[in-house]
Amino acid sequence: MNIPGSSHKARAARYILDRALAEGKIIPGQTTVIEKTGGNFGFGLALACADLHIPVELAVGLSFSAVKRRCLELFGASLIGIDALKQGSTPREVVEWHLANARGLGKSYFYTDQFNNPANVLAHEIETGPEIIDQLEAWPELEEISFVGCAGTGAHLTGITRALRGDGYRVNAILVEPAGCDSKSGIFVSHKLEGCAVGVKPPVLDWELIDETIHVDESAMLYAQRQFATKHGFFIGNTSAACASVAASIQSRTSRHHKILTIAYDHGLWYV
Ligand SMILES: Cc1ncc(COP(=O)(O)O)c(C=O)c1O
Repeated sequence: MNIPGSSHKARAARYILDRALAEGKIIPGQTTVIEKTGGNFGFGLALACADLHIPVELAVGLSFSAVKRRCLELFGASLIGIDALKQGSTPREVVEWHLANARGLGKSYFYTDQFNNPANVLAHEIETGPEIIDQLEAWPELEEISFVGCAGTGAHLTGITRALRGDGYRVNAILVEPAGCDSKSGIFVSHKLEGCAVGVKPPVLDWELIDETIHVDESAMLYAQRQFATKHGFFIGNTSAACASVAASIQSRTSRHHKILTIAYDHGLWYV
């Protein structure tokens, strides 16, 4: 959780790359990976690509912190389209321009496309979910889980819920949203939960799986963040703290047979 390469998005990034390699969509020595992200998916890609010796180009919005941008470069990513971004292009437009001009640039790209790639969900259904299920063996009497998560792409909430239900647990899937946002209706306001409610309806979220939506405001998120740090010694990130706040608010639902599951997505230093 405290290392940029260990978030849930790093698991998705590694899975998508491994699958593309197995399917021959990435050819080592020929292919360059491309994506638009300066978030946890970008860190996952940068680290996995460094490990696999595959070049990676990222279009990172200029609003991302200088520290994040510098770290991505330290991990081996090339940040592309800086001039275009300065002139007002979006990261999506930067990626689209590179894909359209690949031949002239002498590149063969593989676009990981986390917002449209079904492998983003499969990563969590096939890997993150079973990883959690292994940990749940510590509670042999467990039958029901309240799974508290938020949605950017919607991939982990969908994939993990499917994996838990597939393993026989009754799952109450709870979507955490920033106060004022309604991702299902496409309503977004500016908020501090970077990574969720990102301005588009979560494209791979299976809404049929969601039982409840709970909104969290900034003060509740900050309170949960401080509580978690003082009680457990981990400075969790903003979406993690929002989920921890909701988890605390429904604590009375728990029993020997019913536990609350949530995710510490990343650390809080990025967001200070
Ligand atoms: C910190 C953080 N929390 C939550 C999410 C949402 O994850 P998902 O894209 O699986 O919905 C992200 C995604 O980038 C994230 O970086």
